[in-house]
Amino acid sequence: MAATVRQEPQEKERGTPLVVETRGLTKRYGRIAAVESLDLTVRRGEVYGFLGPNGAGKTTTLRMLLGLIRPTSGDARVLGEKPGSPAGLGKVGALVESPAFYPYLSGQDNLRVMARYSGVRSPRIAEVLERVELSGRAKDKFRKYSLGMKQRLGVAAALLKDPDLLVLDEPTNGLDPKGMADMRDLIRRLGKGDRTVLLSSHLLGEVEQICDRVGVISKGSLVAEGSVAELRGKQGLLVRAEPTEEAAQIAEKLVGVEEVAELGGALRLTTDPERAAEINAKLVSAGLRVSELRPAGQSLEEAFLELTGGETV
Ligand SMILES: Nc1ncnc2c1ncn2[C@@H]1O[C@H](COP(=O)(O)OP(=O)(O)OP(=O)(O)O)[C@@H](O)[C@H]1O
Ligand SMILES: [Mg+2]
Repeated sequence: MAATVRQEPQEKERGTPLVVETRGLTKRYGRIAAVESLDLTVRRGEVYGFLGPNGAGKTTTLRMLLGLIRPTSGDARVLGEKPGSPAGLGKVGALVESPAFYPYLSGQDNLRVMARYSGVRSPRIAEVLERVELSGRAKDKFRKYSLGMKQRLGVAAALLKDPDLLVLDEPTNGLDPKGMADMRDLIRRLGKGDRTVLLSSHLLGEVEQICDRVGVISKGSLVAEGSVAELRGKQGLLVRAEPTEEAAQIAEKLVGVEEVAELGGALRLTTDPERAAEINAKLVSAGLRVSELRPAGQSLEEAFLELTGGETV
């Protein structure tokens, strides 16, 4: 009888080394499947958004990837290593749940304590404080920090080892709009170059603004993975022109228009919305009366509502 060969995680996909790869990753708590058969792929250098509503399984997944909890079943590889193995952990920085800082020590001294036990050289402390724009408040006691400053110190701590992979669990949670915007800017800057950032969020707009690729998790399962554009689906133009029949015939013949559908007296063209002016000119020069022409893509929100079965993210 032929033995069943279990497929091991692939090191590479489409030529890009995978920084995180999971196969059938599952975590059950009694009857609750917190994470169910998750297949994630995070590529080197990207900012990956792990998006899902409350209770979807984001933190549980990140904790498994960091080796903080064991999966019930399935495999995961982080930077080619088993989660939690010393070789892997040296290259991963994480901010999952609020880090335990000493309230009576300054931000700088908290980082000193951390740097000492992780064998990080001390000049690095000033570098990471600069990176998160806390240099000016470095000598203030942690308990005097605002929530945004505490979060930034958490990111600074995660950066101490100059990690190849930075894992951030809902880094903007609880911050005010300015704090959120600052944190987003910081993450974008940190994600430049070779460093990979994996962040979780329940905020659609946030992920859309800062991530290269997105994985959508709903009730423990991955329901979609791809670039924001891919998840959004086909883009197009809505055209209202009289006579509609004639407009449809012209539109069908245009190069770059993939599909023409009639929609309540208007036409929906599947095409690059940037071509609006050119299409308008063609219709007008054919003697048609164009009364409306606008981009008509599926919004990311609509796409997600569809993917998560109506649960907002
Ligand atoms: N230690 C635990 N024991 C029992 N159930 C747990 C445990 N940790 C998580 N769960 C359950 O697993 C599910 C996923 O939780 P998880 O914290 O991973 O979600 P999340 O996506 O991070 O949500 P949030 O956006 O609220 O942080 C939830 O139903 C939660 O109650
Ligand atoms: Mg969580």
